[in-house]
Order: sequence, then structure tokens, then C-alpha cells
Amino acid sequence: MDKSFIDIFAVQPDHNRSRGFHMIDIKSFLICPECMSELSNELVCERCGNVYSYKYGVFDIISENLSKRLNQMNRKDFDELFEDETVEITFEDVNNTYKNKETIEAEYKMNTYMKGLIEDFSGVVCDLATGFGVMLQKLLDSQNKNFNIICTDIEKALLVVTRRIKKTDDNRVFYIASDGRYMSIKDQTIDYITSRSAFGGIPESDKVARELYRILKPGGKLIIYGRFIEEGSKSLEIAKSQGPALRTVDEFLNALESGGFENIDTAVVSEVIWAENDFIHAAGDKISYCIITAQRIECKSKKILRCIDI
Ligand SMILES: C[S@@+](CC[C@H](N)C(=O)[O-])C[C@H]1O[C@@H](n2cnc3c(N)ncnc32)[C@H](O)[C@@H]1O
Repeated sequence: MDKSFIDIFAVQPDHNRSRGFHMIDIKSFLICPECMSELSNELVCERCGNVYSYKYGVFDIISENLSKRLNQMNRKDFDELFEDETVEITFEDVNNTYKNKETIEAEYKMNTYMKGLIEDFSGVVCDLATGFGVMLQKLLDSQNKNFNIICTDIEKALLVVTRRIKKTDDNRVFYIASDGRYMSIKDQTIDYITSRSAFGGIPESDKVARELYRILKPGGKLIIYGRFIEEGSKSLEIAKSQGPALRTVDEFLNALESGGFENIDTAVVSEVIWAENDFIHAAGDKISYCIITAQRIECKSKKILRCIDI
């Protein structure tokens, strides 16, 4: 446990909708993903006794019973790579699919639209499945600094790397290894959730939707940013052969509705014909660049039970 972290963040979260940037006590947002109880200052569950950890700037609040990590690194390799804070870690983007002019313009439009949404953010923003942080970078680049950012991902190692690459401010940006299906974040504490290539890619989207709803404050918003493919397309066939991801706008809308979300809106920012086959999209298919927003309206504290199949 990195003692230097304890007690730096003194202010308790405002569990009503907060405006503007406050220093938050990130530990007071954490719960045990198994029994949903609070954690002690030492990250021990006050009910079931599960012990969690904090290392290299990342809280590891994953239940080994509930979640299988994807490619957990060997502990020794992990420590060798990250122990020395002075070692520079860089990331090479190997995504080199050909993009035609229309696609580049569509991406530009969508980024501009997202930028406008981020300008209105305040309080606490949770980024689902942060990975190497493309969405995080959009949040960091915004002129609006009136919000805290909680980055989450099932892979602790990715969060450690992302924190090191982005060199984020530890007073504003926090990293929690957490499974989207069993979030280790307290009910009704989050003002905005952002998701780019995140929500739709996590299996059991019904569980993810319920969890995102649970952690949002009443009035809080989920913003899903992405490319969507059409019903009946070749791209959908390819995508479905790779796993149970959500790919069409309708699939997302159904998942959000069944998770309890309301005021669900789809902004189609642009539509393009895909130029070249890649691992999901087939050349010639129509691809929509959309931003889906959905809100938690419910004000009463509804007890949400998790279905846990261990
Ligand atoms: C395509 S990447 C996300 C990209 C990222 N949102 C961005 O903007 O750059 C997908 C991420 O989902 C994470 N992931 C997969 N299953 C997950 C789960 N059950 N809970 C949380 N994260 C998960 C992976 O570790 C990976 O980092």
C-alpha cells in the first residue's frame, strides 16, 4: 500500500449533483464489488473482509471470484516494468487502417461534437474501460477543467501504463481497476460516464448497463461515443463472429432501456461508406458516427440487486 496516498484527499464527495471541480476523497467512492460494502482506509471490505490494494497510482478493486482478468501480467514483470517511476513508457499506436477523406471528416465532426459536450461537464466523470486512454485524452484536452476524472478498466496494468504515459494530475485524475459488470464505485456518486469502445465491448451488457445506472447520480448522464454498424450488414456478421459485443445503435438502445436509462438520444454526427476491410468493418458498408446520451432520472434510491453467477 502506498502510504503517501492516504489522507491527501480530504473532502468527502458531494452525493448530490455537484457543480465544478472539488478535491475528492477517492477512497470514499470505493466499494467491495462482491458485497457492495464500504472499504476501510486500508482497502479492506468492512463486511466480507476482502482485501484490495493500491500500487503505482492504481486502486485494484477487482474480485477474483467475480472477474477473470484478460491478460494479467506476471507479478515480477509488472514490478520490473513499473517500479522505477523515472523510466519513460511510451505507446505506439498500431491502428493503421486506411482512412479516406470522408472518414477523416466524420471523425473530425464527431470529435468536435464530443468536445462541445465535455465543455458542459462538471463534478465527477467516470471513464468506462479507459484502456490506453483515447477518451481520457479528450477529457484532458478540454478547456473545461471543472471536473474530476475516474478512469476504470479491468486491466490494472493498462491503467498503470496510461497514468504514466499521460502524466496526469493525481489530484484530479484517479485510476481504479474495476470490472464494468461489477463496478467498485458507490451508488449515485458519478455525474457523467464516458464510454468509447467500452460499454459495447464488455460481455453481459445487461449487467454493465445496470451498473452504470447504479453509480450515476439522479440527473447524471452516460455518453457513448462511437462507430455503429447496420442491421443485416456484412460488418455485423464479422463482428458477431468475434464475440458478444453490441454493434448497432438499436442494440445499444435496448441495453440502455433495460438498464433503466431514460432520455436516451442518438446524435448521428456523420455516415460514411467504409473504404477498406478491417477487423470489424467490411468495405462498402455504411458506418454511422454517433453519440448516444442517456440519463438516470430516478431520484429515489432503488435497491439494485446484482445477479452474480460465480
Ligand atoms: C478498446 S479498449 C477501450 C478504449 C478506450 N476506452 C479509449 O478511449 O481509448 C477496451 C478496453 O475494455 C477493457 N475491458 C474489457 N473487459 C472489461 C470489463 N469487463 N470491465 C472493464 N473493462 C473491460 C479492456 O481491458 C480494454 O482496455
